[in-house]
Amino acid sequence: MGVVHVDPQVSNKELRDLLYRGDLILLTRLPAVAGFVAFAREQLAGLFAPHEPRDAHAHHTPAELARILGVWKPQFIHHPRSKALLKAVVTAAGFDPRETMYDVPKPRTSYPREHLTTGIAYAFPWHRDTWYAAPSQQINWWFPVSGLTPQNAMKFDLQSFGRSVDNDSSGFDSYQANRDRLTAASQVGKDTRSRPGARNHVARDEMVVLPDPGQILLFSGAHLHASIENTSGHARYSVDFRIIDRRDVVSGTGAPMGDVQCSGTMLREYRSVDSDEGFPEEFVRRMAGAPPEDAILLFDEKLAAKSTTLVQPAGSS
Ligand SMILES: [Fe+2]
Repeated sequence: MGVVHVDPQVSNKELRDLLYRGDLILLTRLPAVAGFVAFAREQLAGLFAPHEPRDAHAHHTPAELARILGVWKPQFIHHPRSKALLKAVVTAAGFDPRETMYDVPKPRTSYPREHLTTGIAYAFPWHRDTWYAAPSQQINWWFPVSGLTPQNAMKFDLQSFGRSVDNDSSGFDSYQANRDRLTAASQVGKDTRSRPGARNHVARDEMVVLPDPGQILLFSGAHLHASIENTSGHARYSVDFRIIDRRDVVSGTGAPMGDVQCSGTMLREYRSVDSDEGFPEEFVRRMAGAPPEDAILLFDEKLAAKSTTLVQPAGSS
């Protein structure tokens, strides 16, 4: 049974436990989310002026869209305002800034299917973020910026939570993924990186949640979810980010990981909401094991900016 809680009146510990057992949580009363939406809209309006962002694909070729987004997305991801808004949202939702670690917010773009659907606007098939080496404590936060409809949103297979699903996550290694992100050629029209997904998966039932702009959806990174192929005729813009609770990482409290076969860890991607410090390397090795000697431990955006890479970091839909 899948449960969606709307503004649950529970402690933060209870909230995390609800998520780890597969429930979804919709938060509708956080002014900071509306602030984040306004900031993203302002950015998109500037990017595509004088056209409406939701019709950007009608005015640009897929290659042009990839180029425009390839420049803008890293700027948005690392903008001080994005970071401040993320922290405001997490804190307002009741998470302890000293115990909560966050990963940078990722803007997502979904264009109608005959337009850009690879590389920077990749449409994710059924997957769990844990197949991308996310820890079992990962909580995903997802909110629409504009244009959300049932024909361009994301979907969940709630019944597959905690059940083994045939998948190819054994081909994913986080250290290799860091290497690939640095060396990939332009991804327009093709995509050769490892993207773990379910094999021939058919959901018995699909759940689609359509938050209004200003509302935010929380779900475990262990949920089976996918992008919906965009047949709406309009672009969809959304933002998502991930957090983990340090105490839960230490205690091993988290979502089921039964069918996860990937290697490596994304723990180094997280920063403290309070101090912006990452986990000590020794802590990561204790939790996730030692990396290969020549491993690229963290993807470096500055190095990536020097390449022609137009790729979207692994993660949500
Ligand atoms: Fe995802």
